[in-house]
Amino acid sequence: MIGNINIKTLKTILVVSLCCLLAGCYPAKGTEAERVVEEEDLITIGFSQLGAESDWRNANTESMKSVFTRENGYDLIFEDAQQKQTNQITAIRSFIQQDVDYIVLAPVTETGWDTVLMEAREAGIPVIIVDRQVNVADDDLFTCWVGSDFELEARKVCMWMSYYFRKKGVAPEDVHIVDIQGTIGSTAQIGRTKGFDHMAKLYGWDVVAHEEGDFTKSKAKESMFNILRNYDNVNVVYCENDNEALGVIEVIEASGRKCGSDITNGEIMVVSFDGVNKKAVSSLVAGQISCIGECNPLHGPRVESIIRKLAAGNEPYKYQYVNEKLYTNTAAVPSIMLGGKEYNVTMLRESDLHQWPY
Ligand code: AHR
Repeated sequence: MIGNINIKTLKTILVVSLCCLLAGCYPAKGTEAERVVEEEDLITIGFSQLGAESDWRNANTESMKSVFTRENGYDLIFEDAQQKQTNQITAIRSFIQQDVDYIVLAPVTETGWDTVLMEAREAGIPVIIVDRQVNVADDDLFTCWVGSDFELEARKVCMWMSYYFRKKGVAPEDVHIVDIQGTIGSTAQIGRTKGFDHMAKLYGWDVVAHEEGDFTKSKAKESMFNILRNYDNVNVVYCENDNEALGVIEVIEASGRKCGSDITNGEIMVVSFDGVNKKAVSSLVAGQISCIGECNPLHGPRVESIIRKLAAGNEPYKYQYVNEKLYTNTAAVPSIMLGGKEYNVTMLRESDLHQWPY
């Protein structure tokens, strides 16, 4: 910053002046210099997206890209980190060098951000964290965060299972459940595993194993294959996202077993999170997935409203949680109580698929 002018503004002024000097006059409409001035009016956003591991992630990227367009007054610099934190750190450093107006970070895992966020703060660039969170020593290293309450999502799905089992007369000790975890160290994994462990202990379910699924279909398939080979009593699979669930269903069905809610008659219950992938939602309607905890990826408009607040000199809320639903295919459990609050359960039908928003 030089006085009230940042480096980018200064550069533009220099370029415009140079053009005027060379042209020997002030620029007419549509000249190179005017285009530079128009560019300057755009708000520059550097967005470090962690990867493209799931349908949720693709919907999230799409939501950001559809909001931060030139027509809407933005210049979006998008970087896909391919699930590597080092790539995200490199991207943030390059955003700082380009002197962007705002940095938006969807972090792959929670730890390891202090240094680079300090660099952004020193450069005077606000950082908005989206989706997963960062675990830093000083919360002032980022401006604010918007995303899901992953632990609440987990507790809701588990509570739905406990209501359902009680209704169907399934004893807790007869629930033999495995957790196919998401990317280890990510907020989505930490919250969904924590919520699962808490509820499994509370209800006395038999937790057979925790296996890695990395939020991908391929990794979950590998893990489910090992589970079926090593344990013969598993009757519930808790998948930490829908892509994992789709992989798990393929493996279960290839082994000759059936996915469904009727675990007393040999079916294997699959539950998961997101509700974005249309195939997963169809699988819910068809009965292969029993319950999905919604995880809403449409953060583009949410981030934009934060940026508008900041641009107007207002302070956004530090943490902004998104409200999310719970989907099933049965009327058996119309609502659940959790922490003194009632959550309705949305029963999806075939007709709902036609207007699915993704
Ligand atoms: O962080 C959100 C999670 O990340 C979504 O549930 C999952 O599908 C994605 O990969």
